[in-house]
Amino acid sequence: VLGNEKGGAGKSTVAMHLAVALLNFGQKVATVDLDVRQKTLTHYIENRRVWAKHSGATLAIPSHFSVARGSAQSAADNEAIEFTGFVDALSAVEHSHHFIIVDTAGSDNHLTRLAHSMANTLISPLNDSFVDFDVFGTVDPETYSVTGESHYARMVREARQQRRLADGVRMDWVVVRNRLSMLGSRNRQRIVNGLNELAVRLGFRGADGLAERVIYREFFPRGLTALDELDARTLGMQPSLSHLTARHELLSLVDTLRLPLDDRARQRAVAQAEWIASRGKPLELHNVIAE
Ligand SMILES: Nc1ncnc2c1ncn2[C@@H]1O[C@H](COP(=O)(O)OP(=O)(O)O)[C@@H](O)[C@H]1O
Ligand SMILES: [Mg+2]
Repeated sequence: VLGNEKGGAGKSTVAMHLAVALLNFGQKVATVDLDVRQKTLTHYIENRRVWAKHSGATLAIPSHFSVARGSAQSAADNEAIEFTGFVDALSAVEHSHHFIIVDTAGSDNHLTRLAHSMANTLISPLNDSFVDFDVFGTVDPETYSVTGESHYARMVREARQQRRLADGVRMDWVVVRNRLSMLGSRNRQRIVNGLNELAVRLGFRGADGLAERVIYREFFPRGLTALDELDARTLGMQPSLSHLTARHELLSLVDTLRLPLDDRARQRAVAQAEWIASRGKPLELHNVIAE
């Protein structure tokens, strides 16, 4: 699950790149777009479909679900419609795919909360700015040391508690710094220090994520990513050195996520699920939701 209450943090960008990275590893990947208004991930994937047809390139495409926005009169009815849309998407792929990547909206709503409480891994991209830091925690204006937790951090804490009660799984929370500038700065060092403090307090792992690169945004209209084949036919242009650097950066991010990618890791995940099930705690998504 990609989550951060702040819009523009890089959730949809990371969701798409992660989907392509996992597809390239031969995994069966499903994607679910819960941003019922912006639908960035949905558009990204649609663009990829169109470009594959147009260019004749073979592009792996995830099984994608865009949860439709409820258009009933009452808010409660809309919540119910959207909830059903999400559950239907999960039910369609939970037994047939290795990974389900869920992109959430930059707002606190019922779908965002539900997704957070179901995550095995929560990935929160974060820009190197105290304005973005502010949804995680507050800092002292003099010393920049952390003084408290903010609303998004509290929401994740609650979601984690729910998940643990539901089936005993401890969600792994990874905060990924995004749009990093190449230049060191005092601001950057203060953010790093603040994140290190918060990591202990909130229980997340930090990842040195992605630098600010044009390549992460220029391919959106073609639905491509830095991880696609670096030939002129696929790209519709000559690849550059920036592709290689970005590719390296993305693979190291996937590595940091410690996802169950090989057969042994998957067997361990299955064994763990069976062990939890044998304690009389069902692990089916339906049951997680039912809690
Ligand atoms: N590493 C990056 N380098 C350059 N631009 C980026 C990077 N990550 C995200 N962006 C751009 O930042 C904006 C917000 O990203 P997006 O993925 O839509 O965030 P969110 O889904 O959290 O709202 C978009 O214009 C996107 O192209
Ligand atoms: Mg988005």
